Amino acid sequence: MDFNDVVTQHAKSCAALGADVYIVGVLITSSGYDEDTAAKSVGVRASCLTKSRQHSQSRRLDVIEERLGIVGNWGRAGMIEIRRLKEKHEADLCAQMMANSEPWMTLSRDYDVLLKSVTGSSREVYLAILRDEVLGFVMINMHGAFVGYIQSICVASDWRNKGVGSQLMAFAENRIFSETPNAFLCVSSFNKSAQRLYKKLGYKVIGKLKDFIVSGHSEILMRKTISSLAEFKSK
Ligand SMILES: CC(C)(COP(=O)(O)OP(=O)(O)OC[C@H]1O[C@@H](n2cnc3c(N)ncnc32)[C@H](O)[C@@H]1OP(=O)(O)O)[C@@H](O)C(=O)NCCC(=O)NCCS
Repeated sequence: MDFNDVVTQHAKSCAALGADVYIVGVLITSSGYDEDTAAKSVGVRASCLTKSRQHSQSRRLDVIEERLGIVGNWGRAGMIEIRRLKEKHEADLCAQMMANSEPWMTLSRDYDVLLKSVTGSSREVYLAILRDEVLGFVMINMHGAFVGYIQSICVASDWRNKGVGSQLMAFAENRIFSETPNAFLCVSSFNKSAQRLYKKLGYKVIGKLKDFIVSGHSEILMRKTISSLAEFKSK
């Protein structure tokens, strides 16, 4: 009996008790499981983790998640689509997501400034999408002094720590490393969790811009490299 069979069996038992069963992303990524197929096979409704958390029967769902083994670190985003930002309302949403989040609040970046940044002509913005919901985005710049600069990355607060940011970073790096061997980014000195993530992904500190955006905080410049420029060009 493989993992899918175990989960399906548990889901069926929960459904038999009259409960709504929510199939979350882990079922997809763990073994290539498709959410709709999974839902059909157990004859229950599928939804994503955030929606299940907002559900009025949240306690009941927590119990079900426990029974399914979909708790804590298991609750991760699965087969997300990453595609280029297309519509104005998507740019609005990205600007809104940042305006309501650290580090931009401390950095005094308001909605208008952030919207200008998202819609700037030198920017490429890629959205992470699951079932029409924008989970987050990454914005890169392939022009200027630091070609391959990851300008911003933001994941909706409900979706953090589920692997979305890592998937966006992997996507951005693939895009950058197809043209240049260096990826650069800046992270605020107070943004410890983002610093931890970037270090884990192989970024090294190459400089510190003291009091750069606001006084009292530095911007830490980081770089990940796959080769020297000369080696990259000769390939
Ligand atoms: C920084 C940010 C983009 C990271 O995105 P994320 O989706 O939370 O990132 P991930 O889930 O891939 O990784 C974050 C952590 O979760 C862990 N994680 C990854 N997959 C996981 C999973 N399936 N279950 C639980 N944890 C997981 C990672 O190991 C990482 O651990 P760490 O905190 O010890 O480094 C996000 O937190 C965010 O939007 N923050 C606010 C904006 C911001 O700071 N942007 C960066 C500006 S420089």
